Amino acid sequence: MSQDWERGWLELSVSALDVVSRVETLEAVEAARVEYLGRERGRLTALLRGLKDLPLEQKKVYGPQANALKDAIEKSLESRKRALEAKALEAGLASSRVDLTLPAPPWPRGRRHPVSETMNEMTSILGRLGFSLAEGPQVETDRNNFEGLNVPADHPARDLQDTFYLKDLPLLLRTHTSPVQIRHMEANKPPIRIMAPGRVFRHEAVDASHSAVFHQVEGLYIDKNVSMADLKGTLSVFIRGLFGPKAAIRFRPSFFPFVEPGAEVDVRCLLCAGEGCPACKRSGWMEMLGAGLVHPNVLRFCGIDPEVWSGYAFGVGVERIALLRYGVPDIRMLYENDLRVLEKLAP
Ligand code: PHE
Repeated sequence: MSQDWERGWLELSVSALDVVSRVETLEAVEAARVEYLGRERGRLTALLRGLKDLPLEQKKVYGPQANALKDAIEKSLESRKRALEAKALEAGLASSRVDLTLPAPPWPRGRRHPVSETMNEMTSILGRLGFSLAEGPQVETDRNNFEGLNVPADHPARDLQDTFYLKDLPLLLRTHTSPVQIRHMEANKPPIRIMAPGRVFRHEAVDASHSAVFHQVEGLYIDKNVSMADLKGTLSVFIRGLFGPKAAIRFRPSFFPFVEPGAEVDVRCLLCAGEGCPACKRSGWMEMLGAGLVHPNVLRFCGIDPEVWSGYAFGVGVERIALLRYGVPDIRMLYENDLRVLEKLAP
């Protein structure tokens, strides 16, 4: 009995460590572990179990040796395993196309388009002044875009030359954001204080200051006893918010069918400081904004009693503001999306 044990021990003690130190795959590591240390049938496990049947003298000699061999095998298995795992990782990296040691490429950082940036700035100033956001569709009815706004049937703005009409449909591309006024006043009771940013369309020849597609931000305030003074106050704060406290503005009497009285607000050209340049058509002023007190016909059209309520409205062209803020001389530069140009634009 004890001779069998001794033979087994001898065999194992010479071969086990040698075998373990030479396994070449992770599967082989596990197989070797099972072969020697497996709980059920491991060869060394069996020898350790058999120790108790040996005579005391032998137990004293072999006990510590067998346990030392167990420790050595465990350590060897562990170190083989780690070495093989490292090798596998290295091979995986080498065969993949990603070289993690390369420095990161200097990707250019994206940002908002100057027109979006400007529009956000405008709505954020108006938001602080108490205007809440309203929106309407870019495809509109004649009723909302013209009729409700007191634009007579024979008004030149309805002309094909100014307005894009949809083929075979009684619809058009809105020529301004004012139809949002109609939509909002019909759906809501006063008091009302909204801003409506959005894209508008005009059948126009494109030049340094005109584009067939551009953006406006509409403002509408309806309450009791709203006056031209309220309008002027709000617009002054708005314009200074955009251009700084020194921004020079002027109000000019003007006509829009949907307001009475009506005004145009000009901002002194920031490109030429009033000297005259292509951007301001050499006038020194840039026409920036139409405004006025909401016409009683418009209020009535929307079911609001003009004897009780009054209000003001204004519509601002976003691109014109952007040209001034970014110091761009030509509106077309905003739309060509030449990254070399856009990258240089900073507010
Ligand atoms: N809707 C006008 C335009 O596009 C601007 C405007 C809005 C004028 C509100 C007065 C009041 O030209």
